[in-house]
Amino acid sequence: MEKKYLFSPGPTMLPPEVLLKMAEPIMHHREPEFEKIFAEIREGLKYLFRTKNEVLVFTSSGTGAMEGAVSNILSRGDKAIVVRGGKFGERWGEICKAFGIEVIPVDVEWGKAVDPKKIEEILKTDPSIRAVYTQASETSTGVKHPIQEIAKIVKKYDNAVIVVDAITGIGVFDLPMDEWGLDVVISGSQKALMLPPGLSFAALSDKAWRFVEKSNLPKYYFNFKKELKSANKNQSSYTPAISLFVGLRETLNMIRKEGLEGVFRRHEKLAAATRAAVKALGLELYAPESPSNALTAVKIPASIDGLKLQDLFFEKFGITVAEGQDRAKGKIIRIAHLGYYERLDMILVLSALEMLLKEMGYRFELGTGLKAAEEILMR
Ligand SMILES: Cc1ncc(COP(=O)(O)O)c(C=O)c1O
Repeated sequence: MEKKYLFSPGPTMLPPEVLLKMAEPIMHHREPEFEKIFAEIREGLKYLFRTKNEVLVFTSSGTGAMEGAVSNILSRGDKAIVVRGGKFGERWGEICKAFGIEVIPVDVEWGKAVDPKKIEEILKTDPSIRAVYTQASETSTGVKHPIQEIAKIVKKYDNAVIVVDAITGIGVFDLPMDEWGLDVVISGSQKALMLPPGLSFAALSDKAWRFVEKSNLPKYYFNFKKELKSANKNQSSYTPAISLFVGLRETLNMIRKEGLEGVFRRHEKLAAATRAAVKALGLELYAPESPSNALTAVKIPASIDGLKLQDLFFEKFGITVAEGQDRAKGKIIRIAHLGYYERLDMILVLSALEMLLKEMGYRFELGTGLKAAEEILMR
């Protein structure tokens, strides 16, 4: 018998009731029924992003909203700080460069969080910086960056905004947009939002909207002003991924029912149990100092072939875990616990990890990791 399990940090496993909803006959996106769904989604997204402002929805993967957060915020000749502590930080830099923006990188060792002071030093000495681009959770390394601290610094500068890629942050840990003064927050559907890939989100503060007014970079599909106008009429500017919108209404209702506090606590617990398990097995975390609750990046011991381990997860158990990217390739595996995951899901993947490590000759007592996880999951 073959069963498949997704433990990659996107796409993630989906609730069956949401899948069923999305399988219903498609409706037309200019019908009143769809407008009603759109209106509900707008409210649900404001609750999730913790903002009074509009959360724009685009039919694209997360990178689409990232691109929009450059092309709608900045103008020709602008300069931006980019926190580069992994693949997705690098992506901010690449997008900025594609639009002719001068990038001032803050390079961070992979597995470490950025030091906000480094950002402050640059902002202090260069008043022409217009934005700070960062991740809340750098999915390639499993690191959580200190967003609140960075936001406090950027807030002091009227001519600069903080733009947060929270693609694996929103719905995982608290990022109260309005309270912390986050100017742009980006997310995507295939993560904690428990949907297939295909929707991206962008929420903007009043300050960020003032930047949009002045922005003169080229844009067409990802036009925030145009999309806001449409959203205010419960419409999208172009044909949206209708079935995903239908699913989104369901998952937002699920999140509301559990309550954001409950959602964050669940992620905290699953993450803590996963970390405790791998440490009990004598393995090291790739991001020990500031781990994200979205995923756990585990260093593979030198005696084990990391790529083979990842392959075996799938071959033997039908489990997809993510490998390391770029310089971390073969050196880590990344186990996700964001979105539709519960306590026993983690027992399943950790049990597979133990069995595979044993088979590959790594020495430890079977059950050691599971015991450590169970002790936390029982709390
Ligand atoms: C932190 C982060 N940023 C950006 C992306 C890119 O999103 P997408 O692949 O949906 O374009 C991802 C996806 O894994 C991500 O985890």
